[in-house]
Amino acid sequence: MNRYLLGFNTKDMDVEHYDAIIIGSGIAGVYTALQMEKSVKIAVITKETLDISNSVLAQGGIAVSLDKEDSPEYHFKDTLYAGAGLCNEETVWSLVNEAAENIDILCKYGVNFDKAENHRLMLSREGAHSKNRIIHTGDATGKEVCDTLIHAMLKHENVKIFERTFAVDLITKENKCMGVLTYMEDTEKLKLFISDVVVCASGGFGQLYHYTTNPPVTTGDGAAMAYRAGCKLMDLEFVQFHPTVLYHKENRSFLISEAVRGDGAILVNINGERFMPGYHSMAELAPRDVVSRSIFQELQKTKSTNVFLDITHKDSEYIKNRFPTIYKTCMQYGIDITKDRIPVAPAEHYCMGGIMTDAFGRTDIEGFYACGEAACNGIHGANRLASNSLLEGLVFGRRIALEVNHLMLNRTNKKQPSLEHFEVPMTGTETITNVDELKLKLRKLMTEKVGIVRNERNLKEAMQQVIEMKEQISNKVYETMEQWEFANMLTLAELVIKSALMRTESRGAHYRTDYPETDDINFKKNTVV
Ligand code: SIN
Repeated sequence: MNRYLLGFNTKDMDVEHYDAIIIGSGIAGVYTALQMEKSVKIAVITKETLDISNSVLAQGGIAVSLDKEDSPEYHFKDTLYAGAGLCNEETVWSLVNEAAENIDILCKYGVNFDKAENHRLMLSREGAHSKNRIIHTGDATGKEVCDTLIHAMLKHENVKIFERTFAVDLITKENKCMGVLTYMEDTEKLKLFISDVVVCASGGFGQLYHYTTNPPVTTGDGAAMAYRAGCKLMDLEFVQFHPTVLYHKENRSFLISEAVRGDGAILVNINGERFMPGYHSMAELAPRDVVSRSIFQELQKTKSTNVFLDITHKDSEYIKNRFPTIYKTCMQYGIDITKDRIPVAPAEHYCMGGIMTDAFGRTDIEGFYACGEAACNGIHGANRLASNSLLEGLVFGRRIALEVNHLMLNRTNKKQPSLEHFEVPMTGTETITNVDELKLKLRKLMTEKVGIVRNERNLKEAMQQVIEMKEQISNKVYETMEQWEFANMLTLAELVIKSALMRTESRGAHYRTDYPETDDINFKKNTVV
């Protein structure tokens, strides 16, 4: 693997200096920027426009123990139960203990969460939570939070936004991060951002799979870039498949929130039989990995492609008010969720693994931090508890921001870091012409052989095909965003498969038919690559 994705010469480039560069404009990136002091000069760079991220699509909500019957201890226990023995207890305590103060900050920014009759935040239930603790804004919580935070960030004069800017590679020197090499889509030029601190909040790698709830930008660029620079990645084999994604010939990526099951919806197979109570005592509200796997088995048993989610027993006005986005979207496909059962099947939703960090978002490289789905600090273990993901972006984004504020305040050398002339020779001659075809091939391969249920034979076949694809492009020049994305996807695919082969047991979202048992003696530890 080459250290850099492309050849470049810093002499030929525009260079800009900042105190901190934040990659990504989802909840983790934007909140981190907002929590940094206004004296910190920040560049937020994002591959698409500010409003495009996985966070924006989050429907369910944010988990926080606010009810008098609830406590951070219960939230801690539920997170650990869902995480199937692999959570990092230190980071989970930070998550649950700091949840309420971060929600308070969101409310001060003006995030309009739904309120109960007593004017307190309304709390709903989702899978594997023992208490009602999900705060939400209808079924479009991510959009409300992201819109409000982006609006606030645009007023911060210390933050400069760079849209359609692709982070190609981290620039490092003696294990210190010096900045980021980027490609500016509008000018079609490379630009070098130099800074003391780089925060990667670029999201996960859902696009490794054919059917995903994630937007097209989620090609794992942050994790692949960090890996090339020498960071360790952790827990990559744990890929979460959301159990209930719309199954329609024109749409296989629209999420039907777990909150619908939290509100009493049941799952039935194509024969109209309810099946979840036969798989787990929590039935439809079992942890996500359990529900997805149960649906997978039910599909095989009944030789069908989808099951149905049924909420029709609820009052139709209630359904329309509580789930307006889901109601309207399903209506576009001729499904009236107040009267019809919703056809659903599992699809990729969230990567538990990512760039390995400590409880303060620090990575193996000095000055390089990660938070949100791009990072792995162990809070999710082998399977993320519902509605812990936006919360993770808040808690650990703020922790990074507070550390950076402290660093900047105590900086003895106020001079901006400089980088002497830097040149990386170009390798390869021909360009890759069939990237779209190769991306689709990879996504189908990962879905078929590295999906909800795995085994050694399939994993080895997948590895062989990934190696062949790598060889096919090894002597080529990468010069477009699509080509860099594909190179990143291949890197991640190889590492996901490698991690899945290393874990010869079943745990959380990683289920192997050849090793169906959980092996706490040999595997109660994270996979690091
Ligand atoms: C959902 O609304 O089901 C998704 C929430 C999450 O991913 O935690």
